[in-house]
Amino acid sequence: MIPTQLSVKQVFSVQWSGNIHGNLELIDQTLLPMQLKVLSISTIVEAFEAIVMLRVRGAPAIGIAAAYGVVLGVQKCFRDGNSVAESRDAALHACDYLATSRPTAVNLFWALDRMRSVISRNPNVASAADIAQALLREARLIHDEDRRMCHAIGEHGARLLDDNSGVLTHCNTGGLATSEYGTALAAIFTAQDQGKNIHVYADETRPLLQGSRLTAWELQRRQVPCTVICDSMAAQVMREGRIQAVIVGADRITARGDTANKIGTYGVAVLARYHNIPFYVAAPRSTFDLSIVSGDDIPIEQRKAEEITNGFGRQTAPNEIDVYNPAFDVTPAELISAIVTERGIISPVSEENVRHCVE
Ligand code: MRU
Repeated sequence: MIPTQLSVKQVFSVQWSGNIHGNLELIDQTLLPMQLKVLSISTIVEAFEAIVMLRVRGAPAIGIAAAYGVVLGVQKCFRDGNSVAESRDAALHACDYLATSRPTAVNLFWALDRMRSVISRNPNVASAADIAQALLREARLIHDEDRRMCHAIGEHGARLLDDNSGVLTHCNTGGLATSEYGTALAAIFTAQDQGKNIHVYADETRPLLQGSRLTAWELQRRQVPCTVICDSMAAQVMREGRIQAVIVGADRITARGDTANKIGTYGVAVLARYHNIPFYVAAPRSTFDLSIVSGDDIPIEQRKAEEITNGFGRQTAPNEIDVYNPAFDVTPAELISAIVTERGIISPVSEENVRHCVE
């Protein structure tokens, strides 16, 4: 990967540069907020590594990056003059490989299924380059659709946020986590654009600090008033009456509305219920997995102990201590006041209402 310096104004999470011979470019989110660097990724192995290491992260952004990763996976075929059959195999193999990068965000599998369907929908292509062309077209479509979904979610979500209110959010759901603009943060950006005065409380989001490193950075750039709190402060901040709504994103939502999101989200939902504060989830339809009903069936990613014991270069627990590090938890539907999608607001959250909106 070749890091290049980026000017402050050119912010995008993921983009494809050039034609079928081009590269995937993404902001290395592990370096924020200290450094804004774009990585130019030219192999599928690098794309896989970027997803696993959270250089690109956030459910929609992972799906988009993986779609472009499939294009990288077939580039060698047309460079080497491989047959159409070999290129098809390479594309399907690329999808299978990228699907093993992270297990929870369903947008990854949704995007890879769309890339697989390009192969089945185009049985008569003449060359390996034509396959790459069709794959790149689909990846760009996925990317463009996400842009539109984010803006629609922003419009619907802003209706739930009152003027002069405090809004708590967890993890990062802005432009970095999507094509641009975001999901839960999109609702806040839109509310601000409408002239509403919103003060955001950003949970720092242990262990990888997506809240303090990324959400606070995005909010500051857009001049949205923001206060960072440790995750353990949410209850106190709610008790003090500073929070009028909670809004978070999602990595996978089941048919009845159970929602996997960054570890700690479930705790925030429990706290919100206790303090009588509405708890909203914002996500595109690509985040719904209607093949499962119960949140118990969502696979939860387990990550390395070092993220907790040696985060950000400093050892903070004794050697060889036992550590449990699930990256996500599941908030049951009954704690969710409404789910905001690009098609509108699902409330109350029930299987009937979810299927009606999403199918
Ligand atoms: O592990 P991460 O940083 O990829 O987790 C991201 C989240 O949990 C986000 O809240 C979710 O993907 C929604 S992004 C719009």
